[in-house]
Amino acid sequence: MDRYAVIGHPIAHSKSPSIHAAFAAQTGQTLVYEALLAPLDGFADTVRRFIAAGGKGMNVTVPFKLEAFALADHLSPRAKAAGAVNTLSFRADGIHGDNTDGLGLVRDLTANLHCPLAGRRVLLLGAGGAARGALQPLIEAGPARLHLANRTAAKAIDLAEQFRPIAGALNLTASGFDDIGGEAFDLVINATAASLSAAAPAIPDTVYAPGALAYDMMYGAEPTTFLLAARAAGARRVADGLGMLAEQAAESFLIWRGVRPDTAAVLATLRAALAKG
Ligand code: ATR
Repeated sequence: MDRYAVIGHPIAHSKSPSIHAAFAAQTGQTLVYEALLAPLDGFADTVRRFIAAGGKGMNVTVPFKLEAFALADHLSPRAKAAGAVNTLSFRADGIHGDNTDGLGLVRDLTANLHCPLAGRRVLLLGAGGAARGALQPLIEAGPARLHLANRTAAKAIDLAEQFRPIAGALNLTASGFDDIGGEAFDLVINATAASLSAAAPAIPDTVYAPGALAYDMMYGAEPTTFLLAARAAGARRVADGLGMLAEQAAESFLIWRGVRPDTAAVLATLRAALAKG
């Protein structure tokens, strides 16, 4: 049977095995998908053992996405743009690295949340790996305006410069949180790690245009601190990153199996499980 796994450290609470088992059942594919704990200094060895045992592909999570990027023999354009790999495919000609996180975000926004990006004004908060991974798919979705804001302004400015070559006519700018100014946005995406420490990025209340959607890449049983602050500041709609999780998984499944699973039922199950705790 074709073997797949998610590899990380820690990994016990990963939702990927149940997501992919549901995708396999739904699409009639026969495969096994397990959770693999790699020692912090043993990522490459663990991957190679999995390949030797017949493994076909892997999802890669914290803290190994940069090591997966370095390990891959072939990188997709979106993995190169993200500078990180979350999907490995083991083929006859070597290890292929891809990144489905950014596309997962864009699909969740457009297909699940019915928030079109074309022509919209977008504010992306953060300048770490999560923000970087989202940038190419966000730019390709055709917003009218994209502003990057980060607690450390220099990192946002540097990131914007790296992506300027693919930005074309897009109005792409960057600043610290204090210098966002009075501008309003249709979509505000939190790609910072602030929610991990129950904090919210210190942005002005004025960033939310009428009807704006606030989106947090993090998720939990309760709305994140950012989403609570966004609601209080006037964001009309808020959404967490559970849909992004399901969509990046679906995109990985498509790469491996050539079929795109439908995420609606899986997402409903994940949401119910999260609410139950
Ligand atoms: P990731 O891969 O999750 O993006 P990272 O590369 O460590 O993680 O980046 C973390 C991001 O969250 C950075 O943009 C960081 O801001 P700085 O560059 O100023 O460090 C941001 N961040 C973390 N905690 C934050 C907080 N409490 N408020 C605002 N931004 C925060």
